[in-house]
Amino acid sequence: MKKIAVFTSGGDAPGMNACVRSVVRTSIYHGLEIFGIYYGYDGMIKGNIKKMQSHSVSNIIQRGGTILKSARSMEFMTKEGRQKAYDQLKSLGIEGVVAIGGDGTFTGAKVFSEEFGLPIIGCPGTIDNDIYGTDFTIGFDTAVNTALEAIDKIRDTAAAHDRIFFIEVMGRDSGYIAVECGIGGGAEFVMVPETKTSLDTVVKSLKNLRKTKTSSIVVVAEGDEEGSASEIMEKVKVKIKDDEKDFKVTTLGHIQRGGNPTARDRVLGSRCGMAAVEGLMAGHTNCMAGVVNGEVVYTPFSDCIGKDKPIKKDHLRLIEILSI
Ligand code: F6P
Repeated sequence: MKKIAVFTSGGDAPGMNACVRSVVRTSIYHGLEIFGIYYGYDGMIKGNIKKMQSHSVSNIIQRGGTILKSARSMEFMTKEGRQKAYDQLKSLGIEGVVAIGGDGTFTGAKVFSEEFGLPIIGCPGTIDNDIYGTDFTIGFDTAVNTALEAIDKIRDTAAAHDRIFFIEVMGRDSGYIAVECGIGGGAEFVMVPETKTSLDTVVKSLKNLRKTKTSSIVVVAEGDEEGSASEIMEKVKVKIKDDEKDFKVTTLGHIQRGGNPTARDRVLGSRCGMAAVEGLMAGHTNCMAGVVNGEVVYTPFSDCIGKDKPIKKDHLRLIEILSI
C-alpha cells in the first residue's frame, strides 16, 4: 500500500482534527502518500481530493471542527454515486481509506469497502458516544465538558430564582451525553431514550425534592421518547399544578459540537488515527480502530453499527442516589 486517503463525515466532533493530523503524519512517517478528501463522501464523488504534507496539519490539534470539512451525501447512498467515488480514488491510485465519523459514516464505508474490495478503516468521531467497539468516541469528552460548563451556569440562576430547569443536550438516539452531564452536573433527574421514564415519576420526584431543595435541574437527552425538553416541561408543568413554581427550558444545541478538544479527545483522536493507518498497512479492513480498556482494538464495521452500547445501569442509579 503506497497511497491512502482520509476524510471526515457526518456531524463534526472536537478531536477530529487531532485524528486527521495523526493519520497524515503516521502515513508520512511510514513513507505513504496521503490525500485529504474534503466534504466527506460528497467530496469523494466530486474528486475534491488534495495531497497532504506534514505541514498541512500544523497548528490544528487544538482546534474544534474539521479542516477537511464535513457533509452528508445523498448521492453516495446510490450505487452510481459510489461508483463515481471509487473512480475518483482509482484515478489517483488510492489503495486504502481512513473514514473518521459515526455510524452513518461507517454504514457507507462498509458497503463501499465490500462493493469494491477497497480497504477502509474507521475512527470513531462523534460527540454521541454511541458506537460499539470503543469505550469513548472522539468528541464526547469535549461535548460533555462544554455542556457541563453551561449547566453549572444555569444552576446559579436556577438557584437564585428557585426555578426548575429542563436542559436539553444532544446525542441523537443515545443518552450518553445526558447521563454524563447528569452525574457531573449534579442533576436532580435525567431522561434518556434508553430507559422509559413516565412523566408521573418525574413529577413525583420533583415534588418530593421540593421538600429539601428550592431549585432543580432535569437533563433531557434530545432523543427521549417523551419528546423535546420544552414538550416535557409543558407536560410536567400541567401535572405539577404549582403556579408559584417557575419552569424554564434551555436547549444547548450545537454549542456542544464546537470548541477546543479536551486532552482526552486529542489523545484518543491521535491514537485512533495512528492505529487506522498502521491497521491498513497490516491488512485490516472493513473495521474501526477504537480504544477499549486502554488498548487499541479493531472491531468489524458490522458490529460497530449493529451492536448496542448500553448505558451502564449503575450510572443511572448513581444519579438517583446522589440527587436526594
Ligand atoms: O451525531 C452528532 C449530532 O450532533 C447529534 O447529537 C445530533 O442529533 C445531530 O448530530 C445533529 O445533526 P445536524 O448538525 O446535522 O443538525
